Amino acid sequence: KKVVLAYSGGLDTSVIVRWLQETYNCEVVTFTADIGQGEEVEPARAKAEALGVKEIYIDDLREEFARDFVFPMFRANTIYEGEYLLGTSIARPLIAKRLIEIANETGADAISHGATGKGNDQVRFELGAYALKPGIQVIAPWREWDLTSRETLMKYCEDHNIPVDFASSKKKSPYSMDANLLHISYEGGNLEDPWWEANDAEMWRWSVSPEEAPDEPTYLELTYEKGDIVAINGEAMSPATVLEYLNKVGGENGVGRLDIVENRYVGMKSRGCYETPGGTIMLKAHRGIESLTLDREAAHLKDELMPKYAELIYNGYWWSPERKMLQAAIDESQQHVNGDVRVKLYKGSVSVVGRRSADSLFDEAIATFEDDAGAYDQKDAEGFIRLNSLRLRIAADKGRNNL
Ligand code: ARG
Ligand code: SIN
Repeated sequence: KKVVLAYSGGLDTSVIVRWLQETYNCEVVTFTADIGQGEEVEPARAKAEALGVKEIYIDDLREEFARDFVFPMFRANTIYEGEYLLGTSIARPLIAKRLIEIANETGADAISHGATGKGNDQVRFELGAYALKPGIQVIAPWREWDLTSRETLMKYCEDHNIPVDFASSKKKSPYSMDANLLHISYEGGNLEDPWWEANDAEMWRWSVSPEEAPDEPTYLELTYEKGDIVAINGEAMSPATVLEYLNKVGGENGVGRLDIVENRYVGMKSRGCYETPGGTIMLKAHRGIESLTLDREAAHLKDELMPKYAELIYNGYWWSPERKMLQAAIDESQQHVNGDVRVKLYKGSVSVVGRRSADSLFDEAIATFEDDAGAYDQKDAEGFIRLNSLRLRIAADKGRNNL
């Protein structure tokens, strides 16, 4: 038996390696990805070797993550429950895909992950895995074992020859965190009291507080092609570089902090804090370029579809037929979403202050309050209003709108 494990190199997933080897008497293949979490992935190799792992995969997935997952999602202006930019949700289908690819390459019959049995991540990993390889077996140790506290995990390390420096290599944060190119998230600890203000200086890591941000605004010029940012301040950049750059300048200006209570797919409410500096800029700026280049009805239809699309991603249905259907419509809408947006970052806020496009539908000659040379006849508006009010007048005549 062979199992491919999503391995971070940390304590929890190191325990999982040993637990899988002993419980299932299997060979474990580890897979560690750089998706921009800001930690070295290479040290995972020596740790996996020390645990007797023979097949070790370490991949740099930053460009694939940004290009094939984050950017397509931002074409839809996606937000879950009006607030959450889906930083964790959008990374899971990529991890699931890589786990299955590696299972295919190594001839493994199962995959495994370190998500708990109470959250969204287990659902996302597993729906992804089953969608891409229906016969795969999934092992979720957190749903099977009884190592529920840090003490029992440490005891397990002692009893099973897991080198202790795995556990103490860095100070453990009191929060459950997840980071990638799009965001860093915090849950648990003090946050479990939704009334407690998240003012723990240890917690926020990517951004300064708006109060501490510079007194001078920062301006950026973002260039779009087909709905994606391709250059910043005139310099061409790859998708991952765009995210890195925007995270840096956004964080310096206190942009992208969020504190919410959200509805998990498994049924419970959960309080989480997020830092998404680059994503917050991208969302605002993308709406800016769409405001010039998208037809009104196409734009409004996109806005109707968006909450559904967001829910599909949050709930783990990236690889579903309905998500692909919506994606095709969204991508088609981006054909003419080209041009530049100028944004201003200032003490936690992002404002669009300028937009221009060769594909603009904004026509100064028509929009002007001055003489428009016959493009729009104001007399036409009279009939437009008369016909649109017809049903209102009929209903009122029947006494349906009495004051
Ligand atoms: N609540 C967020 C989501 O479901 C973040 C989850 C964070 N995951 C983690 N393993 N710490 O997308
Ligand atoms: C977990 O349960 O592993 C993290 C939280 C989540 O998946 O929602």
